[in-house]
Amino acid sequence: MLNLLLESERAGALALEQLASEVEPEKLRRFLLGARDEEARNAASLEALIRDNGGTPSDKVGPFAARVAALESVRDRLNLMSRGQEWVARKAEEALALAPPEGPIHDYLQAMANRHRAEVEWGRAEVIRLLNADK
Ligand SMILES: [Fe+2]
Repeated sequence: MLNLLLESERAGALALEQLASEVEPEKLRRFLLGARDEEARNAASLEALIRDNGGTPSDKVGPFAARVAALESVRDRLNLMSRGQEWVARKAEEALALAPPEGPIHDYLQAMANRHRAEVEWGRAEVIRLLNADK
């Protein structure tokens, strides 16, 4: 499960990187690059968490980035990104249910699920605002 999340966060970082290079409004681009950095930080934390607990971190990138890239419009890609965040939140919650009831894996997954839930709400509103700014 942690490797699935790791691959997904990597895919998110890659998708955001590609998307940021294609959007027009400068503020939206900066917002997406900030989100990319966050995904990359999550991936690094998950790698460390897996390693510290005796696992082997995957070196793969999830299929999500290719799905985003396959869409025509920036708006559709942004919408899929938001659904991806929701998916990760759900997977983090599923992983949390399987994790030991306390300790670093539990704490990380709890924080990760909360962050993703918050980002889905806030990110959607922010993207709509920034898409219409700077025009
Ligand atoms: Fe994420």
